[in-house]
Amino acid sequence: MIQGARIFAASLLLAWGMGSQALAGDAAKGEQLANVYCAACHGQSGEGMGPNPPLAGMSEEYFVRTMQAFRAGKRESATMGALSAGLTDEQFQDMAAFYAQFEPVAYEFRIEGPLHHVSASVCQSCHEDIYRQWSGSMHAKSTALRDPIHELLYRQEVGDPRAEGQVHQRSGRYPVCLNCHAPNAAKDQVTKLDAKDAYAEGVNCVACHQISGFKGVRRPEGGLRLGIMAYEISPDTLQGATGFPFDKTRDQQQGNPHLPTGELDTFGVVIPAALPLAGNPRMLRSSELCLGCHDTRPNPQGVPLCDTGDEIRSSGSNVTCQSCHMPIADGIANHSMGGGHDPAMLRRAVKMHVEVEPNGDGVTANVVMQNQLPHRMPTGAPFRNIQVQVTALDAQGNVLWRNFENHALQEDPKSYLFYQLADDEGKPSMPPTATQVGIDTRLLPHERRGLSYEIPVQPAVVRAEMLYNLVFEPMKPRIMELTDDEELLKPRRVAFYEARL
Ligand code: HEC
Ligand code: HEC
Ligand code: HEC
Ligand code: HEC
Ligand code: HEC
Ligand code: HEC
Repeated sequence: MIQGARIFAASLLLAWGMGSQALAGDAAKGEQLANVYCAACHGQSGEGMGPNPPLAGMSEEYFVRTMQAFRAGKRESATMGALSAGLTDEQFQDMAAFYAQFEPVAYEFRIEGPLHHVSASVCQSCHEDIYRQWSGSMHAKSTALRDPIHELLYRQEVGDPRAEGQVHQRSGRYPVCLNCHAPNAAKDQVTKLDAKDAYAEGVNCVACHQISGFKGVRRPEGGLRLGIMAYEISPDTLQGATGFPFDKTRDQQQGNPHLPTGELDTFGVVIPAALPLAGNPRMLRSSELCLGCHDTRPNPQGVPLCDTGDEIRSSGSNVTCQSCHMPIADGIANHSMGGGHDPAMLRRAVKMHVEVEPNGDGVTANVVMQNQLPHRMPTGAPFRNIQVQVTALDAQGNVLWRNFENHALQEDPKSYLFYQLADDEGKPSMPPTATQVGIDTRLLPHERRGLSYEIPVQPAVVRAEMLYNLVFEPMKPRIMELTDDEELLKPRRVAFYEARL
C-alpha cells in the first residue's frame, strides 16, 4: 500500500497556464453547479482532496478544454467521463470562471490502493507529454475495449471483455492474453476490464514502470511464462531509467511525488513518498523490458504466432528495442512506440530501389528491398502483410503493365510478404487452430532481396511500391463491424521508388 504524503504539486501549476485569457463564463452560476456536482470530490473551492486534483486557480481555457475532452472520451476517466456527459459548454465556462477566482493551492496528493491500480491519468497531471505519446500508442489501446483487431480474436477465443469469470475457451484457464494485453487485470486475475481505469488502459505507465527484473519467457523446467509471468514486479516502487535527481535538494524537488518530503507523521515517522521510485537502468534501458511480452508467443499447438524476440536474437543484433522505438526527442524518451499502426514508423523500415535494363523489346526490372530492421518485416502479429506492386507506365502516366491487378497472392506470390499458418493438411488456418507453419515470405532481419520482372513493353517509368496491411483481406469486414475508424485497415505505404528511363 502506498501511504499518503503531503506535497506541493508545483509542476501541476505549469499545466494551469496561469495568465491566459478569461472566457465569458458566469462565476455565480458556476458556483451553484460546482456545489452540486463537484465539491464532494474536488472540495468547496476546488482545493483538491486525496486523489482528486485541485481545480482552484486553473486557467479557464484549460478547464473547458479538459472538460470537453472528458465528455468526448478523449481524456479517459470513468468518473469524469460520466460527470461531464450531461453538461454543456456554457456550463463548463461558468464553472471555469468560478474556479479561476481562487489562488492555486498546495494539496494532499495521495494514491490509494496498490500501485498497479494507479491510472495513467494520475501520471498525466505531471508527465503531460509522455502521457500524450503513450495515449496514442497501441499500448494504451491494447485491450479488447480499445483495439477492434484484438477484440475480434479475443471474443472468438475468450469472450466478453466486460464480464467477470471469462476463460480461454480452449484451455479452460484464465485468459493468457491478459498477461500481456491487460497486465494490471491479470495481476488480480480479473476479466472484467472496465472495472478499473488501470485495467482498461492495458499496458499503462505502471505496467512497465513496476517491472524490476526479467526471468525470461522460457521456464527452466520447460514451457513458457508469458507477459507479467516473465517479469519480477515491484509491488510498491516505480522503476525509473536513471534513478534520477536524488542529489537535488528537497526544495528543488517539491513537485516530485517520487521523493519523500521529509515530513513526519504524528508518530514521528518520516512519511514515505506518494509514488516511490527506484533507479533501475539495467532493466529500463534493456530489451528485456519489452521481451516478456514481445519475445515469442506460440498458440496451444506450439506454433509461433509472434516471434520478434527470436527474430532479433537470430540476427545477432544487440541494438536495444528502445533505441529505435523510444528515440529521445525534446529531452524525453518518446513513448509513442510505433509499429504497424504507425505510418511514419513503417516508412523507416525498408530501403527500396529499382534497377531497369533493356531486354529485347522490353526491359528487365529488378526491385531491390533491404530490411533495415533486426527483426522480420513485417514482424509481430501473424496477419501483417505487404504487397509489392510493380507498375510500368508510359510518359503520360498510363499503365502499360503490372505485376498483379487485384491481389499479389494469386497473381504474383513472390511479391507478397506474409506469414501463413496452416492446419494438418497444409491448408491456411487462423492463429488459434494452426498446427504448423505454412508459408513465410516475410523479409528476414536485415535481409536484402531482389524481385526480378521481365516487362514486355518499353516504359518511361517503372514504379515499385510496398503496401502494408495490418490484417488479411477476409478479416476486414468483421473488424469494421467493431469500429468507426475508417483509416484503420487502409493499406499503408512502406516504400516507394520510380525509375525513369
Ligand atoms: C467522484 C469524484 C469526482 C467528482 C464528483 C468530480 N471529479 Fe473531477 N476528477 C476526479 C478525479 C479522480 C480526477 C483525476 C483523475 C482523472 O483525470 O481521471 C478528476 C479530474 C478533474 C479535472 C482535471 C484536472 C487536471 O488536473 O487536469 C477537472 C477539470 C475536473 N475533474 C473537474 C470536475 C468538475 C467540474 C466536476 C463537477 C462537474 C468534477 N470534476 C467532479 C474526481 C471527481
Ligand atoms: C511499454 C513500456 C512503457 C510504458 C507503457 C511507459 N513507459 Fe515510461 N519509460 C519506459 C522506458 C523503457 C523508459 C526509459 C527509456 C530510456 O531511458 O531509454 C521510460 C522512461 C520514462 C520517463 C523518463 C523520461 C526521460 O527520458 O527522462 C518517464 C518520466 C516515464 N517513462 C513516465 C511514463 C509515464 C507517465 C507513462 C504513462 C503515461 C509511461 N512512462 C509509460 C517504458 C514505458
Ligand atoms: C505530482 C507530479 C508527478 C506525478 C503525479 C508523477 N510524477 Fe513522475 N516525476 C515527477 C517529477 C517532478 C520527476 C523528476 C523530474 C522529471 O524527470 O521530470 C518525475 C520523474 C519520473 C520518472 C523518471 C525517473 C528516472 O529514473 O528517470 C519516471 C519513470 C516517472 N516519473 C514515472 C511516473 C509514473 C509512472 C507516474 C504515475 C504512476 C508518475 N511519474 C507520476 C513528477 C510526477
Ligand atoms: C506488459 C506487456 C508489454 C510490454 C512490457 C511491452 N509491450 Fe509493446 N505491446 C504489448 C501489447 C499487448 C501490444 C499490442 C497491442 C494491440 O495491438 O492490441 C504492444 C504493442 C507494441 C507495438 C506496436 C505494434 C503495432 O501494432 O503497431 C510496439 C512497437 C511495441 N509494443 C514495442 C514495445 C517496446 C519497444 C517495449 C519495451 C520498451 C514494449 N513494447 C513493452 C505489450 C507489451
Ligand atoms: C533498428 C531499429 C529497430 C529495432 C532495434 C527494433 N525495432 Fe521494432 N520496428 C522497427 C520499425 C521501423 C518498425 C515498423 C515496421 C513494422 O511494423 O514491421 C518496427 C516494428 C515493430 C513492431 C510492430 C509489429 C506489428 O505487429 O505491428 C513490434 C511489436 C516491434 N517492432 C517490437 C520490437 C522489439 C520488442 C524490439 C527489441 C527486441 C524491436 N522492435 C527492435 C524498428 C526497430
Ligand atoms: C506474450 C504476450 C502476449 C500474449 C499472451 C497474447 N498476446 Fe496478442 N499481442 C501481443 C503483442 C506484443 C502484440 C503486438 C505486437 C505484435 O504484433 O507482435 C499482440 C497483438 C495481438 C493482435 C493484433 C492486434 C492489432 O491491433 O493488430 C491480436 C489480434 C492479438 N494480439 C490477440 C491475442 C489474443 C486473442 C490472445 C490470447 C489468446 C493474445 N493476443 C495473447 C502479446 C501477446
